[in-house]
Amino acid sequence: MIRVGLAKGRLCESAMKSFEKMNLKQVIDLNSRKLVFHDKENEVEYILLKPSDVVTYVENGVCDLGVVGSDVIMERDEMVYEIADLGFGKCKFSIATLKDNEKVLEQNFIKVATKYPNVAKKYFSSMGKEIEIISLNGSVELAPIVGLADCIVDIVETGSTLKANNLVVVEDMHLVSARLICNSVSYRFNKPTLVEWVKNLKEA
Ligand code: PRP
Repeated sequence: MIRVGLAKGRLCESAMKSFEKMNLKQVIDLNSRKLVFHDKENEVEYILLKPSDVVTYVENGVCDLGVVGSDVIMERDEMVYEIADLGFGKCKFSIATLKDNEKVLEQNFIKVATKYPNVAKKYFSSMGKEIEIISLNGSVELAPIVGLADCIVDIVETGSTLKANNLVVVEDMHLVSARLICNSVSYRFNKPTLVEWVKNLKEA
């Protein structure tokens, strides 16, 4: 039995669409409150996790494999074994601000609101900019509107959240997509089973 950790939310929905042939739609019921789903036919157990917990479960060997966005991997900034870029969940890390503040990056000191403090710190420090990070857990678009920050660092997919809140991208930072990650030990010991599953996944 292989155990696969899936990041809940948009990524899980995309995974279910992209891996139609892997039985995910038949096995996982997103409308239930269940967190563990068994695919007895293919000997796979799927568990639904908060995105950043996928990395923790895989690192601790509780999951053999994980499906998570590269945004989460970058923020964790730890050694994670990536087997494949899954090609869905595509979005980008961007710096955005209010429409009338598009020169924000020219300021000497910038207040940045984000759910990704490590990614933001690294990027601004590579630009040689002095910043203060305001760490938030969600709805970061609100921060420039209410004057909590000058700009935000966040993931942008369709751009509709920015548009709805009168914000614009001032700089794109990194491309983001879903990745298949693995636990290095279980990959070594379970290799034939995992390799077979990964091969089927790639074909699917
Ligand atoms: C993410 C992100 C943006 C939004 C971008 O938030 O933090 O707010 O999606 O998507 P869009 O470009 O398609 O509009 P999420 O939906 O995960 O909610 P949260 O802000 O509450 O974390």
